Amino acid sequence: MPVNEQNPEVCDATTDATTHEDRLKMIFLLIPTRNIEIEGKCTPAACFSKKLQLYSPQIFKNTKNSSMEVVKNIVWHNATITKEDRQRKNGHKSVILWYTGLSGAGKSTLANKVEEKLYERGYNTYVLDGDNIRHGLNKGLGFTAEDRTENIRRIGEVAKLFVDAGIIVSTAFVSPYRSDRDIVRALVPAGEFVEIYVAASLEVCEERDTKGLYKKARAGEIKNFTGISDPYEAPENAELTVDTGAQTLDESADVVLGWLEANGYIVKA
Ligand code: ADX
Repeated sequence: MPVNEQNPEVCDATTDATTHEDRLKMIFLLIPTRNIEIEGKCTPAACFSKKLQLYSPQIFKNTKNSSMEVVKNIVWHNATITKEDRQRKNGHKSVILWYTGLSGAGKSTLANKVEEKLYERGYNTYVLDGDNIRHGLNKGLGFTAEDRTENIRRIGEVAKLFVDAGIIVSTAFVSPYRSDRDIVRALVPAGEFVEIYVAASLEVCEERDTKGLYKKARAGEIKNFTGISDPYEAPENAELTVDTGAQTLDESADVVLGWLEANGYIVKA
């Protein structure tokens, strides 16, 4: 377990967390080292406690909370067919391609274009799209910091299941908070989470305004709108940055495919 006994807030990055429990502990240790302040929406301490409770109920097993009670009597069942079996059968690695960026940056468009190209090359793929998921699984969640955290937590867990199923899964969510994205990163082993920053500027996104939402947000008709009245925390260590404002869709998709080839996720075409 990557814990520095002298200083419990430090993770030893050279050690990989391999068990579920280890990863939970790693998340527990990771969060306080990150900036988790959500501009006046809640204090860092409150956010920390909230996120910790969402992600690691085991750590809170003595807390009087009904959802914790549920976790107490549930025992993990190891699958007979493993992720490695499925990857072997599919003939490729599985991974989360996590697209993040402002609304209108082109996350969904790019994720779908990359999927199309992967699909044509015989890879097993799926796209989880923010707007679509909010019509079903995440219906009812809004855009407060807490709801966005829950939105991303659920998608992180779903994406992890897809990786377990041997799929190259793309997620297209604004996911504006660094801490939320880092928590998803820590849910899976190193290398199975690839953060792709779709870096179109606010000016470009607002100019496009494909859904007419920026106009409404400027007029005060939509609250908590990312980039206008809510923050967007750009990734600091994304595996890949794609500027859809300066490239064509095909060029951006080829940047992603080239990176996947160069890093051994797919074979060269
Ligand atoms: S996230 O912040 O929780 O990751 P998500 O990607 O699911 O957001 O949903 C973002 C989409 O919802 C945007 O593309 C936009 O179409 C729509 N939307 C509606 N209200 C908002 C808002 N307040 N902030 C950002 N996007 C919004």
